[in-house]
Amino acid sequence: MSCVVMLVAAVISVPVIALIINRARKLRKPQNKKVISVFTRYPSPGVTKTRLIPCLGEEAAAYAQRRMTEHILERIRAYCNKRRDTDLAVWYNGSSEDKMRFWLTPKVGGYNFLYFNQQPPGGLGEKLREATLSGFRGNREYVVIVGSDIPGLTSDVMEEAFETLEGGADMVLGQAEDGGYYLVGFSKKAAHKIGEVFEGMDWGTDQVFVQQCEKAKQLDLNLLILDTKLSDVDTKEDLPVLENALRLSRRELTDRNWSVIIPTMNEEDTIADTLQTVYKNCSSETKIQEIIVSDGGSKDNTVQKVKDFSLKVNIPVKVIHSQPGRGFQQKSAAEAATGDFLLFLHSDTRLPRNFDISAESCLKTPGNVAGSFTWSVDTQSDDSWFFKLQMKIVTYFTNKRIQMFEYPFGDNAIFTSRHVYEKIGGIKEVYLLEDVLMVEELWKVGHVGIAQGEPAVTSARRWRKGGAFRISGLNRIILTAHYLGVSTETLALWYYGDKLRSVMAANKKKS
Ligand SMILES: *[C@@H]1O[C@H](CO)[C@@H](O)[C@H](O)[C@H]1NC(C)=O
Ligand SMILES: *[C@@H]1O[C@H](CO)[C@@H](O)[C@H](O)[C@H]1NC(C)=O
Ligand SMILES: *[C@@H]1O[C@H](CO)[C@@H](O)[C@H](O)[C@H]1NC(C)=O
Repeated sequence: MSCVVMLVAAVISVPVIALIINRARKLRKPQNKKVISVFTRYPSPGVTKTRLIPCLGEEAAAYAQRRMTEHILERIRAYCNKRRDTDLAVWYNGSSEDKMRFWLTPKVGGYNFLYFNQQPPGGLGEKLREATLSGFRGNREYVVIVGSDIPGLTSDVMEEAFETLEGGADMVLGQAEDGGYYLVGFSKKAAHKIGEVFEGMDWGTDQVFVQQCEKAKQLDLNLLILDTKLSDVDTKEDLPVLENALRLSRRELTDRNWSVIIPTMNEEDTIADTLQTVYKNCSSETKIQEIIVSDGGSKDNTVQKVKDFSLKVNIPVKVIHSQPGRGFQQKSAAEAATGDFLLFLHSDTRLPRNFDISAESCLKTPGNVAGSFTWSVDTQSDDSWFFKLQMKIVTYFTNKRIQMFEYPFGDNAIFTSRHVYEKIGGIKEVYLLEDVLMVEELWKVGHVGIAQGEPAVTSARRWRKGGAFRISGLNRIILTAHYLGVSTETLALWYYGDKLRSVMAANKKKS
């Protein structure tokens, strides 16, 4: 009896002990000698970047703020990952740590040495003082603080700032074009003067840089100025800076549109309906930049059907011809696409009403770099009760997978924005699992969300033909093999058999 009790106790205590060790490890997170602190805000429309609101509107001003912070953190992370001797501390306002974390750390491959701190109350002077002093706690030697609205900040500038401090300076400043400064840094030997150094500044005026230099002189600090002068982005006049550094135009801030990409292979029965749904169920024709049908060499009337449809509607509907294979087809369409958002739709799936609005609002959540719709299947009234039950179960688990694991497949209609698509290097040119490989790449740069509202509906024909559990089981086996490291080419050959061999041979010959 006591044996059983001990066993149970042991089993229960293992996770508890693991938890405690984990906590302790977090508390004892090792600190580097240097820290870069970034001041930013959570991008809330109407609250952030208020001086840009008159020309851009609240949403776009917040989006500009989001992109600038993401851009600068990417640069700083790249620097920290390379140097390995520098911590990154994000000082935020107007949010919770959970939201900041969701926004700025991806689902997988998070970053070491990343700290989040709420900005202390008070004016900018108090905030800077607190961030500097808190930087010196522990065994840090050098603290550098930057704002998040200076797209021109490069790793060379960060390097120069730390080298200046390591070379013996007490204090370093980076001058901003508008009379303020974009960077301030201190060496620990100046720590006892931090209490006063930010006092008496006229923050927000063009006198700040000059006043700060004078203050340093009064306090007898050995101050050096960086060679690089940079512009911050505060007002309409600064927008070209954003455009240059982030390749983010004013139009891309205010109205972004969709390219819907549909790969086809002998889809004459369904393609017209699918196109009709995209057309009918978008909120407005102007939101659809184009529909691109990427045909892998249909032998039936698919291409003609697309052409017929394009004559009937006011949105551009294009056909491009591609090597067969969903990865190949989607990639060539994405390369031809000109919209700001990309939506990858299978030709047997119908999008819900106002899909563009729900998808865009999903991508607006800071942290979401892509998303999909919830999912359902169009079982018919004459399907057997057993088939319907099986499909209910498949649907249930699919939606759980999307919600709990941020793990949609192609059937769920995955969407993302073009700059993210480019960042992950695009879709892989593979015959199978192109969707899984893409989602795995998306996890490395952020989160994959869900569009709220009605589900996308996939035709049940595939399951009807193949047997619901057989198809789902096969998918499981393929995925498991993928996790075990079997190459997608091998898996595609298992899945498609000899049919694929001839396609592969033809593709190889062409390329
Ligand atoms: C910080 O956030 C709070 C609440 O969101 C706001 O009231 C305050 O003005 C912000 N302070 C600064 C300096 O941004
Ligand atoms: C994008 O959509 C907006 C409407 O939201 C429209 O006014 C604009 O012309 C479109 N942009 C492009 C480049 O087609
Ligand atoms: C649009 O979406 C609704 C709801 O999701 C769906 O019932 C309808 O069939 C769709 N419209 C078209 C034309 O497919």
